Amino acid sequence: MSNVSLPTSARIFEVGPRDGLQNEAELLSVKDKVELVNRLSQSGLTNIEAGSFVSPKWVPQMASSDQLFQQINRQTGITYSALTPNLQGLDSAIASGVDEIAVFAAASEGFSQKNINCSIEQSLARFEAVVEKARHNNIRVRGYVSCVIACPYDGAISPQQVAKVSQQLINLGCYEISLGDTIGVGTANNVRAMIEAVKSRVAVDRLAIHCHDTYGQAVANIVAALEAGISTIDSSVAGLGGCPYAKGASGNVATEDVLYLLNGLGIETGVNLESIVDTGNFISKRLNRVNQSKAANALSN
Ligand code: HMG
Ligand code: MG
Repeated sequence: MSNVSLPTSARIFEVGPRDGLQNEAELLSVKDKVELVNRLSQSGLTNIEAGSFVSPKWVPQMASSDQLFQQINRQTGITYSALTPNLQGLDSAIASGVDEIAVFAAASEGFSQKNINCSIEQSLARFEAVVEKARHNNIRVRGYVSCVIACPYDGAISPQQVAKVSQQLINLGCYEISLGDTIGVGTANNVRAMIEAVKSRVAVDRLAIHCHDTYGQAVANIVAALEAGISTIDSSVAGLGGCPYAKGASGNVATEDVLYLLNGLGIETGVNLESIVDTGNFISKRLNRVNQSKAANALSN
């Protein structure tokens, strides 16, 4: 690895309050969610995905996102964002004063249908109006592409298909594309091949990597992404969560594990590992679950 150049700094995009909590069996109170976001806001993070404005029938865990946005102590320098699948979600997000939104597409038809009840093409048509209205309101839009390696319904996904959907989201006006290994099945070589394919259509500084850690490969895949030039990494405090429409998918890579990796590689993040460890232990206790971060557990002993 010594002759491979790595970025000197990286941006951590904390998704725990959204991707994490959306799949927890235990419904947290708004008060606890607010405390989670407020604690994360003290750690040096610059991006916190705090909730989503989706149908409460589909994802009941996110139903109180409007209250959450009203109650958090916003810190300057932090972008608080939320997922919005349609105009209804965007309007709620605007009313709640979100700083940034995200639309979420998939590279597989099966997942698109199960997750947002429409085809990829229909989703992109729907997002066009969402992105246009968001930008009109000076709200930046992030785009997610799910199932960049494989889909729980359709199997393996071609890198070219991921590249195509990523470019379509960029063309709609997304400022960044987060490449989601939704079910955490990727390994370093196929992650690398997928990123290379996307890079031929989208500039690498507009890409982020979003790994779920189902097979324990997330940290290795993040190294592959860093080597490919990606320097925005999505992660979730204490490795919370998963996706309700991807059976068997475990939580995101833990923010603590990513920070331990980046600190070891000398890559600057501005995020304080001890602070995240404390917050991860706090939320794991509230949820009555084991902290999924190996680094956090090692540092807490
Ligand atoms: P639908 O049933 O086709 O929607 O769902 P609809 O437009 O026909 O509306 C049906 C009902 O939902 C109506 O209510 C609407 O008002 C309501 P009713 O008249 O029956 O009482 N509704 C809404 N309510 C609140 N907010 C809204 C909203 N929209 C409609 N925005 C829909 C389509 C997209 C709404 C639905 O499928 C949905 O909410 N899906 C979201 C699923 C989700 O949140 N999944 C997890 C996030 S994605 C993820 O985790 C992957 C990611 O992490 C990356 C990775 O890991 O790969 C990002
Ligand atoms: Mg995810």
